[in-house]
Amino acid sequence: MFDPEGPRLRELVVQALSSVERGYDLLAPKFDHTPFRTPDSVLEATASALRRAGPFGTGLDLCCGTGAGVDVLRQVCEAGVTGVDFSAGMLEVARERTGPTGVSASSGPPVGWVRADARALPFGPAFDLVVSFGAFGHFLPRELPGLFAQVHSVLRPGGRFVFPVVAPPRPGSLMYGMLLGFDTVMRLRNVVWRPPFVMYYRSLRFGEMRRELTGVGFRVGFWPLPEFGRRADGSPEVRLVVATV
Ligand SMILES: C[S@@+](CC[C@H](N)C(=O)[O-])C[C@H]1O[C@@H](n2cnc3c(N)ncnc32)[C@H](O)[C@@H]1O
Repeated sequence: MFDPEGPRLRELVVQALSSVERGYDLLAPKFDHTPFRTPDSVLEATASALRRAGPFGTGLDLCCGTGAGVDVLRQVCEAGVTGVDFSAGMLEVARERTGPTGVSASSGPPVGWVRADARALPFGPAFDLVVSFGAFGHFLPRELPGLFAQVHSVLRPGGRFVFPVVAPPRPGSLMYGMLLGFDTVMRLRNVVWRPPFVMYYRSLRFGEMRRELTGVGFRVGFWPLPEFGRRADGSPEVRLVVATV
């Protein structure tokens, strides 16, 4: 699961006993060698779908980590790209990847990094496109309306909030059992240990997400990502949720 440059089990345990912010600070130097970074296949398929809908002006990667989504935005945004995350450690690694001036060595729009909590974004309506990868498990269901309202508030009229969602594993499958086991361990950990580390894989359902997005004023649609195929019932394995202001 982890490559040799990734964290050791002991490091992961220490990180999981910290807060989310501190845990990512500790994990940051090795994060790109873990399966927690969004896989390139998902990033490339998302970039390809956005290229067909773009180009866009300014882009924001919400909970950017080491910048996986920023790399996607740089391919489809012409006027500038910002990554926002509350972990200083993750942002430091992200900055190292793009160079000290904030402008990547290769061609593309200027890139900036902002340390902030996604639940209190320090921006006005300055973006045409917001993306987010692999971060919603860090928010409790009751936090979603506030989080989505924040995203809505930083988008210009007609702006889009786009993120991939993987179809939930079938009950009884190995993956279902693994995610259920992970969530159960995290819930027990959060009962007996402070500070909490919120990371639940099974907390977010597509229907609920759609309802919450609509509730804060988005028009919600989705684009299947054909690269990942379809299930026996015809539904896409992976889709992009596309919420428009
Ligand atoms: C699993 S990592 C994903 C990073 C990156 N988007 C990717 O796909 O590789 C989750 C990221 O969300 C950030 N995060 C979690 N809760 C946050 C919050 N409330 N505000 C800002 N960032 C947050 C963490 O610091 C971490 O960098």
